[in-house]
Amino acid sequence: MGFKDNAIEEIKSRCNIVDVVGRQVVLKKTGNNHKGLCPFHNEKTPSFIVSEDRQMFTCFGCGATGDVIEFTQRIHNLDFPEAIEKLAGEYGIELKDSGFGTESKKTGLYEINREAAAFFYRKFSEGPNPGRDYMEKRGLDASTLRKFGIGYADEQWQSLLEHFQAKGTDPATLLELGLLSRSKDRYYDKFRDRVMFPIINTRGKVIGFGGRVIGEGNPKYLNSPESPVFQKKNNLYGLNLTRQDISKENSVILVEGYMDAVSLYQHGVRNVAATLGTALTVNQATMIKRYTDNIVLAYDSDQAGQAATLRGMDILYEAGCNVKVLLISEGKDPDDYIRKNGKEAFLALVKDALPFADYKLHLLKTMYDLTTTDGNLKFLKEIAKVLRGLRPIEADYYIKKVAKQTNISEGAIKREVGDPRGPTDADSHRSSGQSAETDQKGAIPAAPQLQRNLIKLMLVKSSYIPKVKPYESVFQDPDCYRIYEIVRMLYRSDEEIDFKKLEDSLGEHELGILHHIMQTVQFADRDDRVFADCISHIMEMQRGKREEEIITLLSVLDDEGDRDAIVALTKELMELQRK
Ligand code: CTP
Ligand code: MN
Repeated sequence: MGFKDNAIEEIKSRCNIVDVVGRQVVLKKTGNNHKGLCPFHNEKTPSFIVSEDRQMFTCFGCGATGDVIEFTQRIHNLDFPEAIEKLAGEYGIELKDSGFGTESKKTGLYEINREAAAFFYRKFSEGPNPGRDYMEKRGLDASTLRKFGIGYADEQWQSLLEHFQAKGTDPATLLELGLLSRSKDRYYDKFRDRVMFPIINTRGKVIGFGGRVIGEGNPKYLNSPESPVFQKKNNLYGLNLTRQDISKENSVILVEGYMDAVSLYQHGVRNVAATLGTALTVNQATMIKRYTDNIVLAYDSDQAGQAATLRGMDILYEAGCNVKVLLISEGKDPDDYIRKNGKEAFLALVKDALPFADYKLHLLKTMYDLTTTDGNLKFLKEIAKVLRGLRPIEADYYIKKVAKQTNISEGAIKREVGDPRGPTDADSHRSSGQSAETDQKGAIPAAPQLQRNLIKLMLVKSSYIPKVKPYESVFQDPDCYRIYEIVRMLYRSDEEIDFKKLEDSLGEHELGILHHIMQTVQFADRDDRVFADCISHIMEMQRGKREEEIITLLSVLDDEGDRDAIVALTKELMELQRK
């Protein structure tokens, strides 16, 4: 849904930030501002400041900042339209669909998809047909089929086409949505004699379809192509029905297929969603994180499934999720398993699901022969890669575990894993940075250029990524930040960034910016020099920014209550100004 700009303005003017924040955080008035404990990080002394004049919040501890809408998004884990709706609902502000630009075109496409879904659904429910027979044979009952809106596309070539022609719909639009195909100048229905799974987003819009062949045949599933309303990488099948259950259970079971999702749901395992056979994307991870951080991957036990599991789990782990992997021994996929063994048996598998690192350890142990030196060495190299990617506390725990389960000593594993702070050439930059004045190209880059330089550097040499991390607040430009965020998620030590994956995770606009950076930012082999210049420039900017922060803080702190803080900050300010 799109919103008129004036609706957003109205929200900003009617929803006083002090009021909205005040419902979540205890605020105390100090001078012109309000102060409290930051809800976005753990702290004991308040550094979270709300300015009524500017209608902004800022935390000097963690850097969180924004307006009333951004606050609502962050505190309730909502996307922009959801935050708008929530605030509008609470303050009785009426929202109308905006009637302009691409949004109104999208509205039309959603409407056509909805009409097509209704058409397929009628064919499925009206009377006996091969689609319904097939689904009944697969054990699905009427109420489940209704819930998921399952339909049937008949075997004629023009049923859907004729239906829409009678309504005067332009066939070109149906073609764009992938509902029709064309050969020469004849249009015909793309989905014929298939069971139709409508794919519905969390806002209740039909965005595409998956059509399963009845029985055996190729392709087994025919899916809608990408269209303005359907981007596979941004959606999870079933989430429209299951997101409340996912929140309530505080966990989600991610499966590969339509049938897995529908079948688990029917058996009462309702915190489920399907990735539809693709490798999980960063966007899907971000989306699921709105509802839970606890993810159980229940992919097929075949090789393709296992490979998908491995790729997916890294992305989820990087996104900060707790990832577990469910292993299905008998039966090929979750649908087969639950139909054969029932809900309780499936839940037992969920309970026994292996945590991320255990799964990788398990897999590596089956891949190498640990009775030979060569096997041990290769195993050690691989497991070290896994351990390096873990959060520090976990890494310690797993180093011990690996040592216990193999003949390799803790010391050897630690040495192989190496310094957790990353590659070792950190100091060389500092020395080259000191002679930076002589360098022309990299000399004190302007802010956006600085961000662009850093992005390019991280992409040509991934070892810069961990070194940029401490300064990531420099990515003030939202597009640069988004690109950085994904680069960071895709980062694996010792591997360059997979450009293809990066591109898959970006929107069109960000892609344009990325390509522009790749083409226009050039360093002529002076990467290290430019990098050092960038970092020293950031440090300089940060000193300036911290000075400003301290001055603001000093102006809002309470002379009596915050005496210690005032003394400390004054001292810090003097230090900074001396530099
Ligand atoms: N898939 C696809 N096109 C194919 C095969 C599979 O898009 N030709 C996607 C579908 O989303 C499918 C998922 O990959 O649901 C998993 O594929 P598979 O395991 O082969 O299918 P199942 O979900 O097990 O479907 P069924 O039980 O109906 O055979
Ligand atoms: Mn199956």
